[in-house]
Amino acid sequence: MQDIIRQLDEKRAGARAGGGERRVSAQHAKGKLTARERIDLLLDPDSFEEWDMFVEHRCADFGMEAQKIPGDGVVTGYGTINGRLVFVFSQDFTVFGGSLSEAHAEKICKIMDKAVQVGAPVIGLNDSGGARIQEGVASLAGYAEVFQRNVTASGVIPQISVIMGPCAGGAVYSPAMTDFIFMVKDSSYMFVTGPEVVRTVTHEAVTQEELGGAVTHTTRSGIADLAFENDVEAILQTRRFVDFLPASNREKPPVRPTADTAEREEASLDTLVPANPNKPYDMKELIGKVVDEGDFFEVGPNYARNIITGFGRMAGSTVGFVANQPMVLAGCLDIDSSRKAARFVRFCDCFNIPIVTFVDVPGFLPGTSQEFGGIIKHGAKLLYAYAEATVPKVTLITRKAYGGAYDVMSSKHLRGDVNFAWPSAEIAVMGPKGAVEIIFRADIGDAARIEARTEEYRQKFANPFVAGHRGFIDDVIMPHATRRRICRSLAMLRDKKLENPWRKHGNIPL
Ligand code: HXC
Repeated sequence: MQDIIRQLDEKRAGARAGGGERRVSAQHAKGKLTARERIDLLLDPDSFEEWDMFVEHRCADFGMEAQKIPGDGVVTGYGTINGRLVFVFSQDFTVFGGSLSEAHAEKICKIMDKAVQVGAPVIGLNDSGGARIQEGVASLAGYAEVFQRNVTASGVIPQISVIMGPCAGGAVYSPAMTDFIFMVKDSSYMFVTGPEVVRTVTHEAVTQEELGGAVTHTTRSGIADLAFENDVEAILQTRRFVDFLPASNREKPPVRPTADTAEREEASLDTLVPANPNKPYDMKELIGKVVDEGDFFEVGPNYARNIITGFGRMAGSTVGFVANQPMVLAGCLDIDSSRKAARFVRFCDCFNIPIVTFVDVPGFLPGTSQEFGGIIKHGAKLLYAYAEATVPKVTLITRKAYGGAYDVMSSKHLRGDVNFAWPSAEIAVMGPKGAVEIIFRADIGDAARIEARTEEYRQKFANPFVAGHRGFIDDVIMPHATRRRICRSLAMLRDKKLENPWRKHGNIPL
């Protein structure tokens, strides 16, 4: 018995030591934490229950039989974040470069399977050299087992990937199938083929950071949602993020009691929209002023900035916000913003999170790059996502709601539950000038006539009442009352039941 206990202690010490002092120092020298330090920071103190500390690889090639480290390069288990259950795997770069062996993959799969059964999020802290080269196809099989589980768990439990080191080749496809990807600046990267291969094949000279760093993926490709300065910031923000999410699709969003009353009025909103309809204003100000305690967690802030997506709370409950941003591209919808918002809307719908949409959209962005890039199909993604969503949907038109974009942005016709407009709303097929130039083309040489027609069109359509007459807008509300009116709507919708007809799955325009 004593002997077994001694062996147990030795094995535990071996697992905790990871790849040894030299490699741990190298990890620290790169400004990175170790796999275990990351878990300690992520989970509540003393909440971590580790599994599979004694798992070792089974490879006997290339001298691997002589190199075994308990745990095999990944720390797995479960614990809590602010008291709520989460499962976690944390790859240990100090052990065979965090590379994924068959056994390493089995450990990840084990926690994923349990997370789906009990209904709790999986957080993956990725730091890996990819497939364990010595294992060949066994390692590839391990990846595929993880991929399959990412897909099976999609829409059942939230899956979050934090990229904290290398993530290359086919390995990128596991994070790519999770719901959110966070990255650390200067120490993480994601690409399918690295700079060397790129140089050989396309003769492009590009650094690792340029090709697949955190800034690239949060500004250019949109692959990652957020970029953080270092490991500590990434992990602390992940904790904050998890607080907004339901643990699974079986739950309603979590409620955090707040002293911020639902009745709070915000007088400054009455002057948010400028008198000149062509002048921008910051839609983030509106979000910040209506959410509980001004606490808004923006997702994808530096990509497709013409649309804002993120989570806040209204009267304590999590809400997903989607809002056009008039400060960027006048708030037009384009390919990137449609894709960004569509994915966000679908996440909210999977996890029973009500969607609040703020609309100020002059239409879809014109141009050959948009048309050749497939705006028809990409714009359709957002339309499809809103139309398919059965969660409570509350929409507020602050100013422009023109053309097809009016329909797309959670309109009444796409089963918007409560559709409000501010008095400044203009709901029409297009802006007055463009409209008059088309329907009164013959008068174009006559400036006075065109001006009179434009004014007539403005009078007729640059207001919320035409839509109001038809019941497409449920009420015209004063800006200062926005928080109260949305909170009441959401409270009314709390037990909303709406189901789409049975089908295996729809065919969203991909
Ligand atoms: C086994 C690996 C490994 C791997 C790194 N190591 N990657 N061992 N399999 N894939 C080991 C190294 O031998 C070394 O061991 C330790 O990890 C640290 O690696 P270094 O090279 O010293 O670190 P660094 O200079 O920081 O470079 C990190 C790296 C580089 C850029 C990730 O190691 C690298 O290029 N590795 C190979 C990447 C790769 O080609 N992977 C396969 C891709 S294909 P010691 O004992 O010296 O500490 C793939 C397909 C997935 O992943 C398919 C899914 C469908």
